Amino acid sequence: MISEDELIQKAIKAKERAYAPYSNFQVGASILADGKIYVGFNIENISYSLTICAERVAVINALLNGAKNFEKIVITSDSEEFPYPCGACLQFLSEFTKDMDIILINGEGRTKSTKLKELFPKPFKKEGL
Ligand code: THU
Repeated sequence: MISEDELIQKAIKAKERAYAPYSNFQVGASILADGKIYVGFNIENISYSLTICAERVAVINALLNGAKNFEKIVITSDSEEFPYPCGACLQFLSEFTKDMDIILINGEGRTKSTKLKELFPKPFKKEGL
């Protein structure tokens, strides 16, 4: 059984591996799915627009490794602000789960708990899909 503290520690460790030479803004994420942890960090690119957020990297890591049931995501950065996931990441997360817990950790180690449905109640959908 994975504790929330373990999930948090994995996100903080992932943040330290972020590739963010352009913004110097490092983000770490860890997803709990089917009882396992999948991490991600932001990966920037010299073209800027090709940058991938930590959350989406974590989702891809989880999917690649066969994860099905997304339960919780921890997101952390060094900023005083809580690292709310961007709109693109909210849509991306919504593709794979109806709802999940979201735990945000700021640079001072303070935490805030929320839900995907709370931050993004109406993801884009198409009829019949
Ligand atoms: N970033 C994330 O990793 N997740 C978000 O939800 C928003 C922003 C990254 C992208 C970029 O590398 C850096 O934060 C600064 O915007």
